[in-house]
Amino acid sequence: MSQPTIESILQEDRLFPPTAEFSQLARIKSLEEYQTLYDRAKADPLKFWSELAEQELHWFQHWDTVLDWNNPPFAKWFVNGKINLSYNCLDRHLETRANKPAIVWEGEPGDSKTLTYAELHQEVCKFANVLKSLGVKKGDGVGIYMPMVPEAAIAMLACARIGAPHSVVFGGFSAEALRDRLVNAEVKVVVTADGGWRKDAIVPLKPQVDKALAEGTTVVEKVVVVKRTGQDVSMVSDRDLWWHDLEKDASTDCPAEPMDSEDMLFILYTSGSTGKPKGVVHTTGGYNLYAHITTQWIFDLQENDVYWCTADVGWITGHSYVVYGPLSNGATTVMYEGAPRASNPGCFWDVIEKHKVSVFYTAPTAIRAFIKMGDEHPNSRDLSSLRLLGTVGEPINPEAWMWYKSVIGGDRCPIVDTWWQTETGGIMITPLPGAIATKPGSATLPFPGILADVVDLDGNSVPTNEGGYLAVRHPWPGMMRTVYKDPDRFRKTYWEHIPPKDGNYIYFAGDGARRDADGYFWVMGRVDDVINVAGHRLGTMEVESALVSHPAVAEAAVVGKPDEIKGQDIVAFVTLEGTHQPSEDLAKELKKHVVSEIGAIARPGEIRFADALPKTRSGKIMRRLLRDLAAGVEISGDTSTLEDRSVLEKLRTEGS
Ligand code: WT7
Repeated sequence: MSQPTIESILQEDRLFPPTAEFSQLARIKSLEEYQTLYDRAKADPLKFWSELAEQELHWFQHWDTVLDWNNPPFAKWFVNGKINLSYNCLDRHLETRANKPAIVWEGEPGDSKTLTYAELHQEVCKFANVLKSLGVKKGDGVGIYMPMVPEAAIAMLACARIGAPHSVVFGGFSAEALRDRLVNAEVKVVVTADGGWRKDAIVPLKPQVDKALAEGTTVVEKVVVVKRTGQDVSMVSDRDLWWHDLEKDASTDCPAEPMDSEDMLFILYTSGSTGKPKGVVHTTGGYNLYAHITTQWIFDLQENDVYWCTADVGWITGHSYVVYGPLSNGATTVMYEGAPRASNPGCFWDVIEKHKVSVFYTAPTAIRAFIKMGDEHPNSRDLSSLRLLGTVGEPINPEAWMWYKSVIGGDRCPIVDTWWQTETGGIMITPLPGAIATKPGSATLPFPGILADVVDLDGNSVPTNEGGYLAVRHPWPGMMRTVYKDPDRFRKTYWEHIPPKDGNYIYFAGDGARRDADGYFWVMGRVDDVINVAGHRLGTMEVESALVSHPAVAEAAVVGKPDEIKGQDIVAFVTLEGTHQPSEDLAKELKKHVVSEIGAIARPGEIRFADALPKTRSGKIMRRLLRDLAAGVEISGDTSTLEDRSVLEKLRTEGS
C-alpha cells in the first residue's frame, strides 16, 4: 500500500472543444494530430527533440549527442552544439521580417514605442558593445533591475548575444532582496533605470541599487542607468553611467557569439517556501528550443498575430513568453509598463484595443481582480481582435475561467491554462488550442515530449481521479540544470523527494494533481498547502473554487488550523465582490455552499472576511502566512516576497 496522497473532491463536467474555424487555421489542428505528436515523442524523445532543434533553430555547429543523462539529475542537451539565442531571436529574421514590429511597447503614462526587428537588432548590438566596453566578457554575470521598458529586453538580448549570463531581478523587490541576488550571482554590471511608472507613481529603482551596493558585499563594478522617469538620481562617479551616453558612440556591429549549448544563459531566483531563494540555472540550446516551440504551438502563433503576455520580465514568464519565445518565432510581442489602477481600471483593455492584440496571456490573480472591478471596463472597449487567451501562475477557479471566456473572450476564444514553473523553463501541461477541448480549471494534457504523471511517493502512478504528486518521468530540453552554486539542493528538492528507482529519476514539481478519465490533469495546489481533515488530505484549489463559485465571493484562500479532533480544521479567508458585505449570515451561507458543492468533509470551520489576501509580487496567495494567522501564532518564515505588507497587518488586527 502506498503512502496517502491527496483526495480529490471537485467535479467539473463542462467541456469546450475548439471551433472548426479555429482548428482549421491552427498550427496543431486536431486531437489526432496532437496524439500522433505525443506518441511519437514518447516513443523516441531524443529523435523528437533533435528533429525540432534542426528544423526550428539556427545552429553554428551541430551537436554530437542529443542528451547526456549519464549523471542524473544533471542533464546536458545538444552536447557540443553551438548556438546563440540572440541570433535566433533577431539576426535570422532580418531577411524576411526587418520591418515587422518586434516589440510594441506601451508606457503607463500613455507614451508608446515600436521597435522593428531591424531596429531591435541594432539596439541589441549597440548595447552588447556597451557591455563589452565596460569589461563584460563571456561568462560574466549581469544584473538587470528594470521597469517594463524596451531596454529591459534589449539588455537581456545583449547579454545573450555576448554570452554574459543575466540575472533579472524584479523591479518591485527591495534593496536587500536585490543585494542577495547580486551577491549570489557574482554580478559585475547592473543595468537599471532611474525609476518606472506603476499605478500613477514613480517606483524608484536607482536608489535601491545604491542601497544594495552600499555595504560593499557585491562585486558590482558598473551601473548603467536608463533615463525613464526623469527625477533626480545621484550618480556615483566612476561607477554609474547613463545608458543614453554610452549608446551614443556604440557600434551597431556585434556578431553573435557562438555559445556552447550548455553555456549558462541566465540565473533566475525563485523563492523556496522558506529559506533563501534558489538561483535557477537555465542554459542556452535546450532553453531556446523549448521556449520557441512551446510559444509557437501553444499560442498558435500566426504571422500577423499581436501577442501580449502581461508578465514582468522579472519572472520566468517574462523571460520565456514576453521576450525569448515570441522573438525566436519572429512574432510581435507587446510590453506594457503599467498595472490596472484606480485612475484606469480598464488599462489592459485599452492596450488590447489600441494595438489590436490577438493573443493575450495573463494570470488568474489578474482575472479575479478584473471580475471584482466590474464588467463595464472590458465591455466598453473593443476586444474583437482577440482570438486566443491564456492563463498561468496558479490553478484557475472554474468560475474565473468562465468569466474570462465570456467577458474577455466573447465566447469565441479558446483558453490555454498553462501549467509550468520557473524550473521547467517553459509550459509543460496545456491545451494546444486547435486540438484539445478544454475543461474549466484543467490544464488538460502534457505538451508533446513531456512525460508527466501523477504519482505516489514511491513513484507509482496513482489511479484515475485519485490525487497525488505531479511529476515528470523524462528530462526535457527546457529543464533547469541546477541551483546556482548548490547542486545538492537541486538534487534533493526536485529529484530525491520521490526516490529514484533503478536509475530512473523522477522530477518532483511540488504540486498536487489528479488525472481524470480523459487523462486531463487537474492541478490542486502546492503540496505544502495540503490540509488534513480527519485523515482526508485536501488540496486548496478545490475548496477555494467552491467558494469562488458563490456570487458574493471574489477570491478565497483556505488553510488548515490545528484541531484536536479532526487534526486540522479548514479556515477560509474570503474577499467579496462589489457591493457584498461581510456578515454572520453570509459566513453561514458560504459554509453551506461549500458543503453542497463538494461535501461535508470540506466544510470550513471558520470564514474570515478580508479586504485583500497576502500575495507574492507575482500574484500567488501566500497561504503559509495565512496558516500562521489562522493558528494564532507569530508569522514565521520569509516575508520578503510579500507584495503589500499592510494586507497582513490588517488581517492580523481584524482577526484579534
Ligand atoms: C508554480 C510555479 C510558471 C510561470 C509562473 C509561475 C503554480 C503555475 C499553473 C497552472 C495550476 C499553476 C504551480 C507551480 N502554477 N501555473 N496553470 N495551474 N498551478 O512560476 O513562480 O515558478 O510558480 O505555480 O504551483 O508549481 P513559478
